[in-house]
Amino acid sequence: PVPPMHVGFDDRSGGMSPSGPVLVRRMSDLRGLYADQAAWTAALESDDVVYEVASSPVPELEGELPQSITTILPGRVGGEFHMTKGHMHTRPRGEIYLGLSGLGGLLLFDGERPQWIEMRPGSIGYIPPHWAHRSVNVGDEPYRFLAVYPGDSGHDYGWVAEHGMGHRVFHGSGGPELRPFTFPAG
Ligand code: 6PG
Ligand code: NI
Repeated sequence: PVPPMHVGFDDRSGGMSPSGPVLVRRMSDLRGLYADQAAWTAALESDDVVYEVASSPVPELEGELPQSITTILPGRVGGEFHMTKGHMHTRPRGEIYLGLSGLGGLLLFDGERPQWIEMRPGSIGYIPPHWAHRSVNVGDEPYRFLAVYPGDSGHDYGWVAEHGMGHRVFHGSGGPELRPFTFPAG
């Protein structure tokens, strides 16, 4: 447990203070995420950071409400926008996202119905229990959001690896284009 606290966040870096762990995911951490394997392999050359997750010191324990700030840098792999790995919570726990900057989207999937929620600064995205969730940067600047979730939620990445997310989000001439999910070839 931690005492009541004020948590500040830095508009420019997306960092929190006081800070807990910061997670950095580079292109090489995202094997099997993008449909176009060849484009992903080519992107390994520079192995850029795709997203970072800063957290406050609130622990992931039952009863606590941990929070984190995710920053997804702009970019595409084979026309598919930069995105998070995506996960299902291990326990039936909801979550709330608040858009802070940039343009993004929240892709949700319950195994049958894909859903898409547009996220702008000030948007609140609600993730009900039993819905896998993935965030996508559909703009050309960093997309950043605050997440608040029950401390005993848990993160199940295997569910998404097995079921996919229903849709993939590609750059289209008229804005983001949602196409049926395919597993990467090969
Ligand atoms: C959570 C949130 C959120 C998420 C990050 C990174 O449950 O903690 O949904 O903080 O973890 O946006 O996404 P991935 O965990 O899918 O890589
Ligand atoms: Ni989550």
